[in-house]
Amino acid sequence: MGNQTLPKTLLLKTALIIGASGGIGSGIARNLLATCEWQVIATYHRQIPKLEDPKLIWYPLDVTHEASVEALMTSLNRIDLLIQAAGTLASEHYQPEKTIRRFSPDQLAHSIAINTTPFLLTAKYARRALSTAKQPKVVALSARVGSITDNQLGGWYSYRISKAALNMAVKTVALEWRHALPDALVIAYHPGTVQTPLSAPFHRPTPTTLTPDDTAHALLALLSKLNATDTGTFWDWQGLEVPW
Ligand SMILES: NC(=O)c1ccc[n+]([C@@H]2O[C@H](COP(=O)([O-])OP(=O)(O)OC[C@H]3O[C@@H](n4cnc5c(N)ncnc54)[C@H](OP(=O)(O)O)[C@@H]3O)[C@@H](O)[C@H]2O)c1
Repeated sequence: MGNQTLPKTLLLKTALIIGASGGIGSGIARNLLATCEWQVIATYHRQIPKLEDPKLIWYPLDVTHEASVEALMTSLNRIDLLIQAAGTLASEHYQPEKTIRRFSPDQLAHSIAINTTPFLLTAKYARRALSTAKQPKVVALSARVGSITDNQLGGWYSYRISKAALNMAVKTVALEWRHALPDALVIAYHPGTVQTPLSAPFHRPTPTTLTPDDTAHALLALLSKLNATDTGTFWDWQGLEVPW
């Protein structure tokens, strides 16, 4: 992995999915690969990926390591679709904080390192490869809990704050690229409650819980409707705009 090459065809569009070993990232990869339009460059971190396809190439990547992000981004000639799907909610060390009494600076720093900074680092090195695509699209997997307007329950301090910061990063990059990449779309996306390793410990599946394929399908349908005039916005899996 990391040494393969994709078949050389200019007809296919190229998607880069950061965090494609995760539930949602792999759902998006599967749905793109099922079309005859896309080839996919996908990254994994700790999980050895299971998905295989002749139009798919895997790279190991730690999104907290700037030199690795730079090396990957500068090796790519064209990115038509960039999905930032790496993220964290809990780990062996951290659980979402239900109360401020559980807040820890280390947990916040970790959440920002995985949920916020990677979007900025990827964007820092993505401009050249995005500029060679006709209508490049960039999607950051955010979460509705990162909406300040929509915060009605409180709790989950570090996750919320890191996603709110991600939302600000998305909006700010979108504004900068209105001039540098005028045909680009940059959005934040709330995928719904999706059955993945990230959400499983916190949500018992209900009839409204989505599968990774459901949310991937919804995202691709949404992307087919949005264009550069929608840049700098926040959307959910139902195709509705989310207030910042
Ligand atoms: N699931 C939901 O209900 C839900 C709801 C709202 C928002 N979201 C957001 O959607 C995104 C994807 O979530 P998910 O449910 O698919 O989570 P997931 O299944 O836990 O996947 C997380 C992904 O992040 C990668 N990752 C974690 N740390 C990394 C690092 N240091 N370097 C590189 N990659 C790293 C993981 O790689 P490895 O597994 O290879 O280590 C994995 O590919 C997250 O940003 C999450 O906040 C999810």
